[in-house]
Amino acid sequence: MTLLRTIAEVRDHVKSARDRGLTVGLVPTMGALHEGHGALMRRAREETGYVVVTIFVNPTQFDRTDDFQKYPRELDTDLAFCERLGLDAVFAPDAREMYPGDYQKMPLTSVDVAGLASRFEGEFRPGHFRGVAMVVAKLFNIVAANRAYFGEKDAQQLAVIQKMTADLNFPITIVPVPTVREPDGLAMSSRNQRLTPDQRRVAPLLYQALREAERLIRNGASSTAEIKRAASALMSRNPVFRIQYLDAVDPATFEPLVQIMGAVRVVAAVWLGEVRLIDNVLVDGA
Ligand code: PAJ
Repeated sequence: MTLLRTIAEVRDHVKSARDRGLTVGLVPTMGALHEGHGALMRRAREETGYVVVTIFVNPTQFDRTDDFQKYPRELDTDLAFCERLGLDAVFAPDAREMYPGDYQKMPLTSVDVAGLASRFEGEFRPGHFRGVAMVVAKLFNIVAANRAYFGEKDAQQLAVIQKMTADLNFPITIVPVPTVREPDGLAMSSRNQRLTPDQRRVAPLLYQALREAERLIRNGASSTAEIKRAASALMSRNPVFRIQYLDAVDPATFEPLVQIMGAVRVVAAVWLGEVRLIDNVLVDGA
């Protein structure tokens, strides 16, 4: 496995893989790798001949400096993780390589996925999706992969990237990968490390509430208000949960649905102490 630090090195390695007739898979991450990332990497390894993982804690997508500063950084462990999975290359640039100018003084070109990016995560984390779309567009241009892998854990991010890819004609296939969970149902996330033992114990209630919403929808409930009430009540049993949003949305546009018909994604964000958790379930409507 090769560790790449510069954009020029990535371009060279990818070009020589393509010249050898290999398809290229891209797995963008911010590191602190866990089995959720592992699922994306395994899928990429099955479907492509040359897998590039990127590890970059992207400063432009953080809306809170403390979250950026506290974000776990453990490159050596991450490299060992990728090595064990038999991947081909890891691109771990520093911020100057990705953003050479002073972007505070000279604002960047903006990739703004209108509408979709302003709801839910976009509303509560202003500028977040602009930063995500920007860095992912850069990575698409740097890596020139055939396929890129994203987790359904971050369903709205996935929808933003699918829309950006279609609107800007990036010649790349976006592959969604289902959420990987701990045995008690908590979606794996690098931020789980920051939960206290007490918070960690109650954290699975988030997924239980989403499953309750799913159960009601499958049993024919069609009023979003009623579903929200039932799922919120379940979480509110534990006062440490602060619900930021819980809603049923159109899976492609993330528009809130008043009445449920067909496929729907139930999405939620909660605060557990200082840690913000998000999760979602897709109910296919079949
Ligand atoms: P990060 O949070 O490191 O996640 C990298 C990828 O792993 C994302 O596509 C995310 O959805 C996926 N992922 C995380 N936890 C998962 C889980 N439990 N199951 C399945 N997939 C999971 O998302 C980002 O980084 C950044 O925003 C990025 C796209 C890299 C842009 O900076």
